[in-house]
Formats: sequence, structure tokens, C-alpha cells
Amino acid sequence: MLAKNGVKTRPLSIHRKQLFFLKDYKNSSRYNMTVTTFDFGMIGLGVMGRNLLLNFADNGVAAAGYDTRPEACAALEANATAGTMVKGFTNLPAMVAALSSPKLVMLLVPAGQPVDDVLATLSPLLQPGDVIIDGGNSHFSDTTRRSKMLAPTGIHFVGMGVSGGEEGARRGPAMMPGGDLQAWQTLKPLLERIAAKAYDAPCVAHMGSHAAGHYVKMVHNGIEYAIMQIITEIYDVLKRGYGMNNSTQHQLFAEWNTGRLQSYLVEITADILATPNPDGMGYLVDFILDKAGSKGTGKWTSQTAMDLGVPIPNIDIAVSMRQMSAFKTMRVEAAALFAPTAPPPTADAEMAKTQAEQALYAATIIAYAQGLHLLQVASKDLDMQIPMANVVKIWRGGCIIRSLLLNTIYPLFEQKPQLQNMLLEPVIATVVQQCLPGLKAVVKTGIDSGIALPALQAALAYVQALSTHTLPINLLQAQRDYFGAHTFERVDKPGTFHHPWTQD
Ligand code: 6PG
Repeated sequence: MLAKNGVKTRPLSIHRKQLFFLKDYKNSSRYNMTVTTFDFGMIGLGVMGRNLLLNFADNGVAAAGYDTRPEACAALEANATAGTMVKGFTNLPAMVAALSSPKLVMLLVPAGQPVDDVLATLSPLLQPGDVIIDGGNSHFSDTTRRSKMLAPTGIHFVGMGVSGGEEGARRGPAMMPGGDLQAWQTLKPLLERIAAKAYDAPCVAHMGSHAAGHYVKMVHNGIEYAIMQIITEIYDVLKRGYGMNNSTQHQLFAEWNTGRLQSYLVEITADILATPNPDGMGYLVDFILDKAGSKGTGKWTSQTAMDLGVPIPNIDIAVSMRQMSAFKTMRVEAAALFAPTAPPPTADAEMAKTQAEQALYAATIIAYAQGLHLLQVASKDLDMQIPMANVVKIWRGGCIIRSLLLNTIYPLFEQKPQLQNMLLEPVIATVVQQCLPGLKAVVKTGIDSGIALPALQAALAYVQALSTHTLPINLLQAQRDYFGAHTFERVDKPGTFHHPWTQD
């Protein structure tokens, strides 16, 4: 078999027979003998790496893990399900030597330099035809660079997004591999086993060429940031705008999670709002400092959207609000200077709940629409051939943004793979339209009560701007032409024009 560059590679096919053998093997009397051949290797036995590797093992894969820390190897083996084949190594060449060929090695190490460091040590230990999978949240441009770097070696490199947190990693994540199609064919049967299942389908699929896997995961995270910010604003307006306590909000979120808003993020919000403070009275959520961290994927989504010229204001504002939260001292100082929050308006509780539900639903739809629009443009402009329907399909389970709503969105992209903006689909437009009164009412409450609701406002403004036939950009174009002779087009005749404004 020849790789693109003419380098000889080994055939890529996982030995199914061997896997079935391993499945039977764990029940056999030979199980306690030393195993020298493993099907899959993991580098980095932090909580994600460990849990994902244990998930492989739970599915009949002989699993080897490498970490420099002996305690991480011990934790791996201690947490293995009885009867599965799992071994920790503190010596990388030893682990690689113990893998069957083609050797499949996944990295779950922090994004950035650590990935390059591991690749430098790992690649000389591998042969053409072996596969390296980077399962971390790497920047897509790093994935492109690493793929190019490894191509001449004949080692296949797969950038793969993994979502679902530690529980998902162990019980079934959503996975977004991209790039090398040959490697995907090898990995497919293994990944389909360990993936979450939604509507009986595994939540893993090939996400397109080059760094598409990491690109799709990055946009997933951008949408994750947006929906999280939207939920926090709903929580805030219910709390300070409508005077609703944690217990009532817990019930409300739990109830929403049984209807059209059913989703992982709504579900965990309900749980969080009922969690007592372990150190005394009250609820834990009220004792958590309001300063958010981030690892960069939301910011990267905004950066690439700016580069590609796609408006994703809900993701942008979610990133900005995390940044705003970090300026705690500045905010406390400003709070003393500016007028205090107005008292909450007297609102009918049932009405408030209905409005909040509509606002949350509409804003969530708009957040998905923006993220998917970005993916559609990136697919073309960055030549990634992203299968949009499959993206939505695999996000329906296992990942952080999984929701019932995605099951409504999925057929839209199945029917129209080139769909740019799902808000233009009548089935979505109708629902958003129906929810707009609630979204507007909630935004008004925020304004009247002095509560910042930038994501809800951005969602409202986005749909309003999108549905405005003539934006005031005619004036902006005139300004550009006035001071910079940037020219403009006219609505009444073709061509490009400049007007000598100051002579008038
Ligand atoms: C997931 C998550 C996961 C994690 C990110 C974002 O899909 O399982 O997106 O990848 O949450 O690291 O974390 P930050 O909020 O710290 O940027």
C-alpha cells in the first residue's frame, strides 16, 4: 500500500477476529497471564485519557496506557472493570512495543506544545501505516501543520474532537475525527463501539478532510459557550428580574428538560440549582465565585469566524462575558459608582416562566444556527468537505451540546446538505417567530431591572437584523466613502461610485 507521497505503508485494518478473541479471552482462564499485545494505546492518563481508555477496554479492546506518573498508571488499572485487559506503562517505548500492528495510539494531553513534544518522542517509535490520533482540543491550524509534518513518514495522523466530559469518556462520548480517510476506516469499528448511541446510531462519524475533526469540535465548543451564557442569563433574569429562588428554578429547569428544551445543559443546570452547600446552609451555586476560566476553544471559534466573515454574535458575546467576569475587582468598583439594580418588576410567575422558556428556546436555536452557518462556510472556504448532516447527527448524543432540538435540525441538513442558515427553514423560522414575544419580554425585563442580558439581546438582534430587508448600512457606506473614498454601490443602477461629499 502506498501513501500519497509514495512511502510504503502497511494495510490498515483492525483484526476483527482478534477483537472477538479478546472479548472471549477476558472470560477465559488465561486472562491473568501477562498480555504482551494490546490493540490500542493511550498517551496521557489524566481523567479524560483514563476514562476513554477504560471505555475501550469495557468494549473488548486490549488497552494500554502511558503516563510518566506511576500513580496515573495505578489509577488506570485500579479503575478497570474486572475481566477487562488494561495495563499502565511509565515507559513509552515499552508501551508502543506492546501494541499490535498497525499500532493505534491516541494522545490526550493538553493542547499546544505538549502535543508537539509527545509527537517528537512518539513518531520515531512508529512505522508507516501506524495511526496517531490527537483526541485533545487542539487548534485546527496545529492539526494541519502536524498532519503535513507526519505525512512523509507514512504515519497517519487524525485530529479528533472528543466531547462529553469525564463521564462521557467512560460511558460513551461523541467523537469527531477528521482527515485521513484510510485511518478512519481502521478506527471506525473501534470508535463506533465506544461512542455514545443516539437514536440507535453511534455518535461518531468522519467530519471531513484536513483538520475538520478539530474544527468541528471547536465550533461545538463555541456553541457550548453560547448556550451556557444564554442559560446563565435566564437564571439571572429569573432570579433578579422575577425574584425566583433556586428551588423554584430547579423545578422549572427540570420541567423544561422533559419538553422541547430537553438537553444536557438544561439537565445539569436543574441539578446544580438543587445542590446544597456542602459546607453549611444554602446552595453551593451561591458560594461559587463569579469568575470564569476558559481554555480557548470559544475564542478560537470567534477568531476564525471573524477571518471567514461569518457573524456569530452569540459565541462572541459568550467569550466576552467570560472575559468580563474575570475583571472582578473592576466590576465591584463600578458597581459602587453606577446606579444599583432596579427592584424586580412585579410579574405574573406563570407568565414569567412561559416567557423565559420561549427566550431560552429561541436563543438556543439561534446559537446553533450561527455555529452551523460558520461550519458551512468553513467547509467550503477551508476546503474541509464537512458533512453537515453527520455533524448534527452525532451531536445528538454524548456531547455537551446534545439536545432534543438537534433531532429536529438533523433532517434539515439531510435534505439540504448545503443549507447556509437554518433560520431560513420554515419549520425553524415558525418556531423562532412564536418564541419572539417571550424573548423580547425577557430582554425588556433585563433592561428595566438593570440586568445585563447580552446573549439574549444578541440573539434577538441577530434574528431582527437577519430578517431586515434594508439595514442602515447605506449610511455607513456613505460615511466610508465620505472620509476614505471607499466607494459604494447604488440600488438604482449598476456600478461602483464615489461622491465628492465635501463639495456639496
Ligand atoms: C466537551 C467540552 C470539553 C471542555 C472544553 C471547554 O465537549 O467535553 O467542550 O472539551 O469543556 O475544554 O472548556 P473551557 O470552558 O475551559 O474552555
